[in-house]
Amino acid sequence: MNKPAGNLFAPETLVDPFDYYREAHEAGVKLEFVAEANAWVVYSYELVSEVTAKPEIYSNDFASLMGAADEEIDAILAEGWDNPPTLLTADHPVHTRNRKLVNLAFSAPRVNAIEADMRKKSIELIEKMAQKGGGDFVEDFAIPLPVAMIAQQIGLDNDPKQVKDWSDAAVDRFSQLIDRERQLECVRSFVDYQRYMKGLIDDRRANGGDDLLTDLVEARVEGETPLTDEEIMSIMQQFMVAGNETTTSTIAGGLLQLIRNPEQMAKAKAAAGGRDPKLIQNMVEEMLRYESPSAGIWRVVKEDVELGGEKIAAGSMLQVRYAAANRDPAKFEDPDAFLIDRKNARAHLAFGKGPHMCVGNMLSRKEMFVAFDELLERLDNFQLADEGGITILPNIMLRGVTKLPITYEVAK
Ligand code: HEM
Repeated sequence: MNKPAGNLFAPETLVDPFDYYREAHEAGVKLEFVAEANAWVVYSYELVSEVTAKPEIYSNDFASLMGAADEEIDAILAEGWDNPPTLLTADHPVHTRNRKLVNLAFSAPRVNAIEADMRKKSIELIEKMAQKGGGDFVEDFAIPLPVAMIAQQIGLDNDPKQVKDWSDAAVDRFSQLIDRERQLECVRSFVDYQRYMKGLIDDRRANGGDDLLTDLVEARVEGETPLTDEEIMSIMQQFMVAGNETTTSTIAGGLLQLIRNPEQMAKAKAAAGGRDPKLIQNMVEEMLRYESPSAGIWRVVKEDVELGGEKIAAGSMLQVRYAAANRDPAKFEDPDAFLIDRKNARAHLAFGKGPHMCVGNMLSRKEMFVAFDELLERLDNFQLADEGGITILPNIMLRGVTKLPITYEVAK
């Protein structure tokens, strides 16, 4: 069993990890200890599925890893509210209770209402793009669409930049790649966010409303205490962070794959505009599999355990590498090919698996469906304007295109 050369967490490998994944799969390396990160990383579809099915051993309570605080940071945080572990960073029973209450907020009527807004917003963005004939697709479409969705749900439709700034600050804060000044800025940004959110929660408690936030405030499940203000602040922050960059990356990376595979683009264009919605839905699944923007998520190992023939000690850090599992040839035939009609595309793990599987998956699937249904119908002849201008930044957990210069024409 020859391990791939190099190291997964080297910046150039994080930017383009697919040779590394292929070599690992071909060599039968299902998991490995990456000394540079002092962590185990799990690559195979089978073992990623095993880990996510055993939350009592592989815990999501990884908040303690998120950078040691110090006096200056503590003093800034003291101006805000508690930030208890919720959802993504909580284990049973806190997680189970949170999830029951949050599931109520993602009701079919709420998701359908957001879908209608998404279509309106997609068309508005495409019409603006049409006037230009080209530009950075990430800035012109892939960022503003998901940001608009969450901005609208938290009363900031007129200030989407604020949502993006809060979301970026939250990602940066835990990236471990920022300097001290930015760290302090990010902590201040978090307290600003809490202040804004607290005002809004008070308003919804007093006056009600018609958005995701009101659904969280009003969520009741028999036998469970309702969500507290602090929990709602934390959950809404997860919606911003977990929902923005990931959706942006899938839309931008998905369009890039269509441009790179003209025969797939032709099939997709023939299906868009309501002609074959099933194929567009399947294409979104293939984009998720292929791009896997939540490339790796942490777990903390709670007890000594054996996994894939390796002994792992309690207290170890472990990363489930969803992006590698999605290229596992044991599950996906010819995994590096991008095929919009792939039969088992939906078996991907881009949304995770098990109890923590993405709570926003229905919503973001609809959002991406609408985006491509409209884009491919209204615009034509997408081309890369500048191959060298395509940008992907190294990040241990998230991967996605952050600049995509393209040209296009208005469809006849
Ligand atoms: C393409 C878009 C998205 C991708 C690829 C994605 C990916 C993921 C993944 C991989 C997980 C599992 C984490 C784990 O294993 O511990 C997750 C969880 C989560 N996602 Fe998403 N997500 C997306 C969109 C969204 C949206 C739109 C929202 C909210 C509006 C959202 C909110 C969440 C939350 C709150 C969790 C934590 C759930 C829990 O721990 O029970 N995500 N997401």
